[in-house]
Amino acid sequence: MKVVADISDVRRERAVLPGRFGLVPTMGALHEGHLSLVRRARAECDAVGLSIFVNPTQFGPGEDLSRYPRDLDADLMALEPLGVDLVWTPSPEVMYPPAFQTWVMIEEVSKRLEGERRPGHFRGVATVVAKLFNAFAPDRAYFGQKDAQQTVVIRRMVEDLSIPTEIVVCPTVRAPDGLALSSRNSYLNPGERQAATVLFRALSEARAAYLRGECHARVLRDIMKSVLEQEPLARVDYISVADPETLVELEQIEDRALASLAVYIGRTRLIDNILILWGSDQVNCYI
Ligand code: PAJ
Repeated sequence: MKVVADISDVRRERAVLPGRFGLVPTMGALHEGHLSLVRRARAECDAVGLSIFVNPTQFGPGEDLSRYPRDLDADLMALEPLGVDLVWTPSPEVMYPPAFQTWVMIEEVSKRLEGERRPGHFRGVATVVAKLFNAFAPDRAYFGQKDAQQTVVIRRMVEDLSIPTEIVVCPTVRAPDGLALSSRNSYLNPGERQAATVLFRALSEARAAYLRGECHARVLRDIMKSVLEQEPLARVDYISVADPETLVELEQIEDRALASLAVYIGRTRLIDNILILWGSDQVNCYI
C-alpha cells in the first residue's frame, strides 16, 4: 500500500497500476461504512485507490471543520488488510494552492435538501471530487447511499462534464440498532447515541406506511415528524420525501421516493435516508 501526499506521486503510482482502477474518496476517520466501499471496489476492480482529505471547502462557517475527527494512523491500519494499492493524503495547500479560483457547481440538484441548509457545500464536494477524478483517473468511483444527494450531484457532474468514470453507489452500513455509521457519531454522548436511533425509526415507519398503500408524501412526512417529536433530544432540520433523481419534493408517490432527514441530536447534525420502492422493502440504494 503506497501512501503519497503530492499530486505528481499520485499520477506516477496510478499510471503503473494495471487494469480497472476503483477509487474510494473519503475524509478519513474510517468506519465500516467506508470499508464496505473499499471491499466492494476490491471485489470489482484490479487496483484500488483511496483519498483521505478533510475538504475545507465543503464546510460552512460555524460547521465542524476544526473538530472533524482525524486519525491517519488508525485509518492506514484499517486499510492495510483490505488490499488497497494507493492512498492519497493531500494537504489543504496541495489541493487548494493560493491562486485557486476554479469551482464546479451543479446547479439544480445542489440547491435542495443539504444544499439549501449548507450553502456552498456541494460546490466544495463537486470541486474536490473533480480534482480527485483528475488525479486518479478512476474507471469506477464508489460512494455511499448514506449521502444520497451527494451521489445525485456527482452522477450529474460526471455526465455533464463527460468524465469517463462509472459511479457505483453502495448501501448504507448501519449499527445493529439501525443508526447509520458516520464519523460524526463520535460527537454523541451515550444518551445522544441512544436518541440518534430515532432517525432510522422515523424513516422505517414512513417506508412501512408506503408499503401498506399510503401514497401521499405529506402523510409520510407527518409520520416521520411525529416519530421524531417523541424524542426530546431530537430537533428536526428537514424532513423530505422527494423524487430520487431530481430531489424535487413529491405530493403523490408513484413507485419510488427518497425519504431523507436531517436532525440535530443535541448539537450534532445527523442525516439519513432510505429509498422506498413499491413492492420492495429490500432495495436500499440507487442502482
Ligand atoms: P465521508 O463522509 O468520509 O464519506 C466517504 C464515503 O463513505 C461517502 O461516499 C459516504 O457516502 C460513504 N459513507 C459514509 N458513511 C457510510 C455508511 N454508513 N454506509 C455506507 N457508506 C458510507 O462523503 C465524503 O466523505 C466527502 O463528501 C467526499 C466525497 C470524500 C468529498 O470530500
